[in-house]
Amino acid sequence: KGSLKPAPTALSFEAVPVNRLDAITVPPGYTARAAFAWGEPLLAPYPAYRDGGLNSAAEQALQIGQHHDGMHYFPLESGPRGSAHGLLVMNHEYIDQATLHPAGATVDAEGRRPQEEVDKEIAAHGVSVIEIERRGQEWTIVRGAYNRRITGATPMELAGPVRGSRLARTQYSPDGTRTRGTLNNCAHGFTPWGTYLTCEENWAGYFVNTDAERPREHARYGIGAASRYGWEARHPRFDASRRADDAGGDFRNEPNTFGWIVEIDPTRPDSTPVKRTAMGRFGHEGIVFGTPRPGRPLAFYMGDDANNEYIYKFVSRDRYVPGRADGSLLDHGTLYVARFDDDGTGEWLPLDIEDAGFRAAAAAAGVRFADQADVLVNTRLAADVVGATRMDRPEWGAVDPRSGEVYFTLTNNAARTPGDTDAANPRGPNPYGHIIRFSEDRGRHEATRFEWDLFLLAGPEGNSLGPDGEALDADNILASPDGLWFDHNGLLWIQTDMSGSQLASGPFGNNQMLVADPVTRRMKRFLVGPVGCEITGVVTTPDARTMFVNVQHPGESGSSHWPDGAGRRPRSATVIVTRDDGGVIGA
Ligand code: FEO
Ligand code: CA
Ligand code: CA
Ligand code: CA
Repeated sequence: KGSLKPAPTALSFEAVPVNRLDAITVPPGYTARAAFAWGEPLLAPYPAYRDGGLNSAAEQALQIGQHHDGMHYFPLESGPRGSAHGLLVMNHEYIDQATLHPAGATVDAEGRRPQEEVDKEIAAHGVSVIEIERRGQEWTIVRGAYNRRITGATPMELAGPVRGSRLARTQYSPDGTRTRGTLNNCAHGFTPWGTYLTCEENWAGYFVNTDAERPREHARYGIGAASRYGWEARHPRFDASRRADDAGGDFRNEPNTFGWIVEIDPTRPDSTPVKRTAMGRFGHEGIVFGTPRPGRPLAFYMGDDANNEYIYKFVSRDRYVPGRADGSLLDHGTLYVARFDDDGTGEWLPLDIEDAGFRAAAAAAGVRFADQADVLVNTRLAADVVGATRMDRPEWGAVDPRSGEVYFTLTNNAARTPGDTDAANPRGPNPYGHIIRFSEDRGRHEATRFEWDLFLLAGPEGNSLGPDGEALDADNILASPDGLWFDHNGLLWIQTDMSGSQLASGPFGNNQMLVADPVTRRMKRFLVGPVGCEITGVVTTPDARTMFVNVQHPGESGSSHWPDGAGRRPRSATVIVTRDDGGVIGA
């Protein structure tokens, strides 16, 4: 780090104070405007958004989904035009029934959710591919052939070791090669070959299993007797209970086709999304690759966001060759889980049935795995048996483009007790969260050893530690860090996902985005969101002069009318941030 020059940008803007306004606040000299909101028409015949939850399920399937989250910008042209015309691809993590439907969630006389509501909810999930173009300072949606909605019902392929496994065979796909839909897509990633990766996080809550005994591939992920939205009433595939009377077979393996990294080619609207099973099955928050080196394996870092879950790494078997790489690189390789030792070093532990150490650990724990597909479907259990470090809810990762260091947000952990802390998770309970970082041995992302330290401890002025080793102050206090992204200039953008009393009455105000320079170790608050929202998802155009930031579920708590104004329902949307002098964002 000492040898790196400070980022060319210098955080010269005025820090935004904490606030509880129902608006976006950015520093003086910047402008923020909302665009690409939930319900905006994307596909022909372009049904207009109707306030009051009045759009039908069929219309929702042609419109931008709800609850914007991770996103990436893919330029469609080379050179400067690439920063004026591209594909913005974004996740829609979940839904808010109160705003989605005219009168919120309802049930019929038999207590079942209505078909139309369920289908609208499924259509509001997934991913949007949005072709956008800038004319002057205005970005608009191009009504062209790239626009696409991927939903909770879109047909998908399974690839990697679980493809064809007995654990993936369902009534829909008796040979275990296909599934339908992607759900609870929180953060995201992309690949060096220009595809989008969407991550399935809290998918378990969409299924039920009412059996007294549930298999480990359900139980370890929290599938229980009730689902979040009751979709099983209209789509039996969401009921993973054993049903002896079902002539066509039951749906016990349906949840095994969720919990994966899903690869989408945004430039081919007719392509089938592919679930890459070699990368493990858990509550996938996001995914980020280590600096690609031609002729070496490619590594991807991933967090499992739940109390006391783990940080993982996938290292490809095949070597990365620019221009030749494609998604098959993600089908062969080694999945590792991290152990952080108290001396500031750590080790990547392979979850590989071919590895003698892994087999010995499983045997010692009394756990049997039939094959690598069984290991992958039960990734959390495999990580348990090798003694990985239980973390404070791993959310987004980011790789410093200059130093190669890997950063992860650990958002908070209400379940950690005072007697159960370790050096990497030093607070019990941990209501504020922290950011950990590590350097791979000899700077190689495929290494199995690393060194780590804590980049910051979030919290109020009296209970925090900033990147500079001092307590945080009014310009940069934060809690529950979640979104994390390195821009092209080596600045680290940090987004928050506070909720409950921390959001309602803490010293931190509304959810927000800050920016840190790891070299100068300075950090400032850049943006504060409207009431009751989460700020999640950030990317810029390649010229770093347009920034896109997602605002998820304004009004989820408190009362918001953002962005449409008084009398209208709140909507998730993208905020477009520019500098009034046309300069680089964050400078
Ligand atoms: Fe969906 Fe882990 O935040
Ligand atoms: Ca998140
Ligand atoms: Ca979160
Ligand atoms: Ca959220």
